[in-house]
Amino acid sequence: MNSILKNTFLKNTWKLVSLLTAMIVGTVLFAGSALAAGGTGPEVKRQEWSFGGFNGQYDKAQLQRGFGVYKEVCASCHGLKLLSYRNLVQKGGPEFSKEQALAIAKEATVIDGVDEDGEPKERPGKLSDRFQGPFKNETEARSANNGAYPPDFSVLAKARTIHRHVPWYTEPYWWAYDMVTAYEEKGSDYIYALLTGYGTAPKGEVMGDGMNYNKYFPGHQIAMANPLTDDAVEYTDGTATTAEQHAKDVTAFMAWASEPHLNARKNLGKRVQIYLLIFALLLFLAKKSVWARLKH
Ligand code: HEC
Repeated sequence: MNSILKNTFLKNTWKLVSLLTAMIVGTVLFAGSALAAGGTGPEVKRQEWSFGGFNGQYDKAQLQRGFGVYKEVCASCHGLKLLSYRNLVQKGGPEFSKEQALAIAKEATVIDGVDEDGEPKERPGKLSDRFQGPFKNETEARSANNGAYPPDFSVLAKARTIHRHVPWYTEPYWWAYDMVTAYEEKGSDYIYALLTGYGTAPKGEVMGDGMNYNKYFPGHQIAMANPLTDDAVEYTDGTATTAEQHAKDVTAFMAWASEPHLNARKNLGKRVQIYLLIFALLLFLAKKSVWARLKH
């Protein structure tokens, strides 16, 4: 390489390195400050979920119990509009029988077309219908809830997350940590913490009208009163009916609602892991046989 070329090469390399460094530092600073701004309340504890980790799967019995809690307690305020009644039968979900799901669907009233007077016509729900929400529209929902809007449950477990109380510059480490440990249940951990996080407001906290103190809710004042008590819902499988157990089960149900195909996804992942292991072994043996005749 002649000296002019060499100089240009060095100059450009420096430019590239400084640009990359600036980009990395910028991203870390920006993301760090954005995450730090979101964190309020105590640290959310990581829970054991049957669907956690690389190979986790939903527990069918838990999803059935969780659906019971949703139906008995939460469905009077929260909708589930992206789900259809037939989803309750599908593999990888609560796996109710067709008859059970039909009975659940029939309890709902669906508006379908108009009668001869032009009035909306009502009929009982079918398996192919979407879950019918408790309110006609957002205005009705807010007016029934002191102005607050109970969010739809369809993707809520995916929409929520947690904020670790760690120095901002360690965030990239935690991203990598979550990836390596396959930690995807942040929304579920938050919802469980929220449902079990009600209490009396500390001295000095001025509570808004009709608001409830919850240490995990951002700002600590939530319009939803504690929805769960011990024995709120009857279980037929002998599981304890404590408020914590109800919270756990309904959270698992919400996790399924927001990702109904998790079981299939993780099953495929497991098969890919086995395939890669066998492939790695074959490659190793092939390498050994190819190089076998060569003296080291
Ligand atoms: C009486 C009505 C009512 C019932 C019953 C109810 N909720 Fe709520 N829920 C609300 C309202 C209103 C909000 C919005 C609160 C706010 O923004 O301050 C809410 C918000 C929530 C949130 C979102 C919190 C966030 O981070 O934004 C979750 C999760 C939730 N409810 C779960 C449940 C579960 C699970 C049940 C059943 C066990 C339930 N709710 C029962 C009215 C209700």
